[in-house]
Amino acid sequence: MQGILEIDAAALLRDPDRAIGARAPQLEAAVLRRLGHEPVSRILGQREFYGRVFKVTPGVLDPRPDTETLIDLVLEIVGAEGRHDDALTIADIGCGSGAIIVTLLAALPRAAGVAIDVSPAALAVTRGNAATHGVADRLKTVETRGLCGINDHLDIIVSNPPYIPTGEITGLDAGVRDFDPMLALDGGVDGLQIYREIANNIRALQKPCWICLEIGAGQHDAVERIFEAIGAVARHRRIDLGGHIRAVALKIHC
Ligand SMILES: C[S@@+](CC[C@H](N)C(=O)[O-])C[C@H]1O[C@@H](n2cnc3c(N)ncnc32)[C@H](O)[C@@H]1O
Repeated sequence: MQGILEIDAAALLRDPDRAIGARAPQLEAAVLRRLGHEPVSRILGQREFYGRVFKVTPGVLDPRPDTETLIDLVLEIVGAEGRHDDALTIADIGCGSGAIIVTLLAALPRAAGVAIDVSPAALAVTRGNAATHGVADRLKTVETRGLCGINDHLDIIVSNPPYIPTGEITGLDAGVRDFDPMLALDGGVDGLQIYREIANNIRALQKPCWICLEIGAGQHDAVERIFEAIGAVARHRRIDLGGHIRAVALKIHC
């Protein structure tokens, strides 16, 4: 609760008995929210992701450390192809807070981004985070489903789509179920609905493109099959800190 008290860890260590003083009501309100299972990042309205602080509102998914696996995967692919300084175009389907696309644009100095979401509230948060991290001039935001209406030439498509099977949502931890937007969680009956939607959209692309996806635990084979059915070739899998295959990369028209 250092964020609420507006003190840093060093100040707390130096003076552990300091009076809470004028911030006491805010601290009490925050503790009550936490007792209601609200995640600390939501109480503070911000979350650190890949070394940067992102604004988080009730309209966006609270970005997760697991998603950093997807960032590592994309940056490894770009690095291995020697394209770090190329003018790549990257689309992020379901951008939420913008954690993925803003992080990638910050890491790749000449890349441009297309941040896509069905939620206007999410797109507004992405724009704010892009401005905070100095990449707004290389990012456009588009309100649409999947890649509908996107005509840009894309080098890389990234997505951390909603992938929880509908029937599993009621059993989720309260901090997720009651605070992350349903639109960010619900992946349909088998959790794979949006991967099928994205694969359908990708059929129309004419040029070679990487597809880098976050997936739920155990979904790797099924997701790869969906994209292999449209001609993509599965190239990489990456494991998260919990030991689950969390990110896959496929190449299409190669
Ligand atoms: C799991 S969240 C990911 C947010 C962010 N990319 C992250 O990793 O923290 C999924 C996002 O996809 C959006 N979404 C859901 N269905 C979509 C669709 N058909 N097309 C585009 N975006 C969609 C939701 O509004 C939500 O912001």
